[in-house]
Amino acid sequence: MSRFAVIGQPIAHSASPRIHTAFGEQLGIALDYERIEVEPEALSERLTELHAAGYAGLNVTLPHKQAVATECARVSERARLAEAVNTLSRIDAGWTGDNTDGEGLLRDLQDNLGVAVAGKRVLVLGAGGAARGILPPLLETGPAELVLSNRSPWKPETIAEALAAHGPIRPATHMALKGDHFEIVINAMSVGHQGAFPRMPDGLLAQGAVAYDLSYGAAHTPFAEWARAAGAVAVHDGLGMLVEQAAASFALWHGQRPETAPIIAMLRAG
Ligand SMILES: NC(=O)c1ccc[n+]([C@@H]2O[C@H](COP(=O)([O-])OP(=O)(O)OC[C@H]3O[C@@H](n4cnc5c(N)ncnc54)[C@H](OP(=O)(O)O)[C@@H]3O)[C@@H](O)[C@H]2O)c1
Repeated sequence: MSRFAVIGQPIAHSASPRIHTAFGEQLGIALDYERIEVEPEALSERLTELHAAGYAGLNVTLPHKQAVATECARVSERARLAEAVNTLSRIDAGWTGDNTDGEGLLRDLQDNLGVAVAGKRVLVLGAGGAARGILPPLLETGPAELVLSNRSPWKPETIAEALAAHGPIRPATHMALKGDHFEIVINAMSVGHQGAFPRMPDGLLAQGAVAYDLSYGAAHTPFAEWARAAGAVAVHDGLGMLVEQAAASFALWHGQRPETAPIIAMLRAG
């Protein structure tokens, strides 16, 4: 049976084994998928061990997404642009790295939820690894404007410059958004894990605006409360993106795309 795992620290909370096992059952593919806790200092050594032990693929979560990119024999173009890897596939020479987060977001936002990005004014809050991964695919959809806002002011500037060949991104700080209005607001900050949401200028959401959070579970609550109070007509969490990025990893490994709707429903049921 092919062996797969998700590596991270902490890792006990990860839903990836449940998602991949359910995908496998749906498509009649037998697989063994584990959670493996890996400390940052041991990352390189553990990747070599897991390769030697015959693992066919690994998902990568915090805090390793950036560091893993430098451990790969090859990385895909989208992982290179994201400067982060969430999927490792085994090759003889080691691991190839890919990043399925951007694909996962767009499949959930556009295909599952029916929120078209083309022609819209879009705001991404947060400029960490996840934000960087979703920006190039967002640009590809042709938004009217894409603004990247962050607490630390230099990160949006740096990212906008690095991705300039893919389309225009306007860098900003949260405070500098005063007077702007957006039709889609995507939260890619991790601050919800601390049960908080930073202060934002009033009036950020245009009439009929949709709010999407990469976070899910308890970490989604602070953004959801802010977005509803700010007038969002719909507020979505990132559970669908989690399943969609997993489906994209599954397709890379097994050559078949699972149906995601039943798995999203299964996770929502608890
Ligand atoms: N649904 C999914 O499939 C999926 C996939 C990937 C990620 N995610 C979620 O996306 C979120 C971001 O992940 P990441 O990998 O990008 O994390 P990251 O690289 O650590 O970036 C964290 C971001 O949050 C901001 N931030 C943190 N604390 C803040 C605070 N107190 N006030 C204002 N801003 C704050 C940081 O701003 P500074 O730059 O100023 O520090 C940075 O922009 C996490 O919640 C993660 O769970 C979900």
